[in-house]
Amino acid sequence: MKKISEAIKRRPIIGWAIFVVVLIIVFLLGLLAASITERRAEIATLYSNKKVEIKGINPHSSEWGINYPREYDTWLKTKNMDFQSKHHGNIKQDVLEQRPEMVVLWAGYAFSKDYTAPRGHSYAIEDIHHTLRTATPTNSSDGPQPATCWTCKSPDVPRMMNEIGIENFYKQKWGALGKEIVNPIGCADCHDPKTMALTITRPALIEAFTRQNKDIKQSTPQEMRTLACAQCHVEYYFTKDGNYLTFPWDKGISVEAIEQYYDNSNFSDWTHALSRAPMLKAQHPDYELFSLGPHAQRGLSCADCHMPYVSEGGIKYSNHQVMSPLKNIASTCQTCHRDSEEKLMNYVYEYQDKAIEIRTRLENELAKTHILAKLAWDKGANEKEMKGVLKLLRQAQWRWDFVVASHGSTFHAPVESQRILAHGLDKAMQAQLELQKVLFTYGVHNTNLPDISTKAKAQKYIGLDMDKLNKEKKDWINTTVPKWLEQAKKEGKLSKL
Ligand code: HEC
Ligand code: HEC
Ligand code: HEC
Ligand code: HEC
Repeated sequence: MKKISEAIKRRPIIGWAIFVVVLIIVFLLGLLAASITERRAEIATLYSNKKVEIKGINPHSSEWGINYPREYDTWLKTKNMDFQSKHHGNIKQDVLEQRPEMVVLWAGYAFSKDYTAPRGHSYAIEDIHHTLRTATPTNSSDGPQPATCWTCKSPDVPRMMNEIGIENFYKQKWGALGKEIVNPIGCADCHDPKTMALTITRPALIEAFTRQNKDIKQSTPQEMRTLACAQCHVEYYFTKDGNYLTFPWDKGISVEAIEQYYDNSNFSDWTHALSRAPMLKAQHPDYELFSLGPHAQRGLSCADCHMPYVSEGGIKYSNHQVMSPLKNIASTCQTCHRDSEEKLMNYVYEYQDKAIEIRTRLENELAKTHILAKLAWDKGANEKEMKGVLKLLRQAQWRWDFVVASHGSTFHAPVESQRILAHGLDKAMQAQLELQKVLFTYGVHNTNLPDISTKAKAQKYIGLDMDKLNKEKKDWINTTVPKWLEQAKKEGKLSKL
């Protein structure tokens, strides 16, 4: 200090210089403080300062976006098709082309005609407009599928349920609501417009909780960050009477508990076209399998990895680009784990690859068993001889499908997924042993398996006339679908994005 005062005494200009510098620093600090208070106020008023009032069940996400531009802009990015991890991504992939055995596994069921991997939420409507799975209704009151198939696609679903009643919604034909359900999964699927709190818009989830004597309204905010997804990413079925969408959780959510639920009511989704087994189709039990894995058991929710927080200019918000967490490991896994990106990525791949080893084996054995069961029927086998085989086939494929249809399962719950696949393989081999006995009775000792090495060959083998089906699909996309969209647009129901 002495040195400075001496210096100032010698050259007063230094004193002035220090004074001016301090003055500037104080001024800048003042500016910063003002900006922070302003930003605080901005956050506090974000909710009360809404630019537009959203009323009722509003399926137009672009209108919500005026109030919440950050969430809206990231939500729009579910349109991006720019990411491929080792096994998943947001790019459309023809799964039947990659694994033609699946065509045989689903013979007699619409999945054998058309099946592409999921991409992003904003494609939910476009993709259902382009699949043979929901068939090609020629007029707007046509099915053959019920309107229940729309349930997980759009905020127009809660809007219509509110307008025409839940039971009546499910009773409609699929084609009947084509001009109503036009906007992809959006804000009104997950949020209450007044408070922006997460809300459950799908009755099936609330009803499943009620049947277990649980009140979904008592869920914690962290649980809601999972339950918002459990409205759609779950196992479900349509009741035979009225196509009422129902979650089969009354006995529990494990693969065995759900199977028991279906067995008790003699339920099957379809009869296999080759083996004649009474089959179950697993939908996408992401919630069920995730709940049995290590992260759920530590209290994590889906949003922790699929909708991570982003900080931008002092504002923290949830990234609404729901997709693979591997796209951005720094903002997902690394908020909790200190391992390198590469290591974290490899943990995921290692779990996936190990499960896939068993899955592929099981897939091949299942295809073979269905084909050999057909041979047994062709040779004259009867119901009594085949009963045990068919039951084992149903059980084996249910286990395969439960893991495969839950796309994230092998990471979400690696041990449980591998346990289920192992039991599936065991059941498939038991089915083959039983079947060998039947085939021996009819003098069959050597069997030649058909060539199902491509999607086209497998589809031809199970008797699908794909030329005809694809022509119907093309006509439908060029006639019925544009009519639906045109009418929705005219009535102001189609949101601009
Ligand atoms: C699939 C369900 C889902 C959809 C669709 C969805 N959100 Fe969200 N949103 C969430 C979840 C989960 C959170 C995190 C809530 C929490 O942490 O409590 C959230 C949080 C928010 C928040 C609170 C601040 C923040 O970012 O964490 C706002 C505002 C918001 N969303 C706006 C929107 C808007 C606008 C849309 C439509 C463009 C939308 N959301 C679509 C699930 C959804
Ligand atoms: C209203 C039903 C619905 C809700 C709610 C919902 N999803 Fe989805 N989700 C879908 C559908 C349908 C698809 C397939 C869309 C397509 O590809 O056409 C999908 C696709 C996905 C994908 C694959 C996308 C990709 O790029 O690989 C992920 C991951 C996903 N959802 C996670 C979530 C999470 C996490 C939540 C909760 C925050 C959630 N979903 C809420 C229906 C829903
Ligand atoms: C601990 C992080 C984490 C949590 C929590 C989590 N997931 Fe995932 N999820 C992943 C990872 C990692 C993958 C595999 C991504 C890949 O291979 O690119 C994945 C994959 C998926 C996929 C398949 C994506 C595709 O492209 O096919 C879906 C769907 C999905 N998760 C939904 C959910 C749902 C629903 C929940 C909650 C019930 C959830 N996830 C909870 C990490 C998580
Ligand atoms: C919100 C925090 C959080 C996030 C995000 C998260 N994890 Fe974890 N993870 C945990 C906790 C907690 C455990 C249990 C740790 C323990 O018991 O030592 C765990 C366990 C694991 C394990 C060991 C699993 C086992 O069988 O016990 C692996 C591997 C893992 N995480 C990978 C990932 C990857 C990859 C991601 C990103 C896709 C991720 N985690 C995201 C918190 C998180």
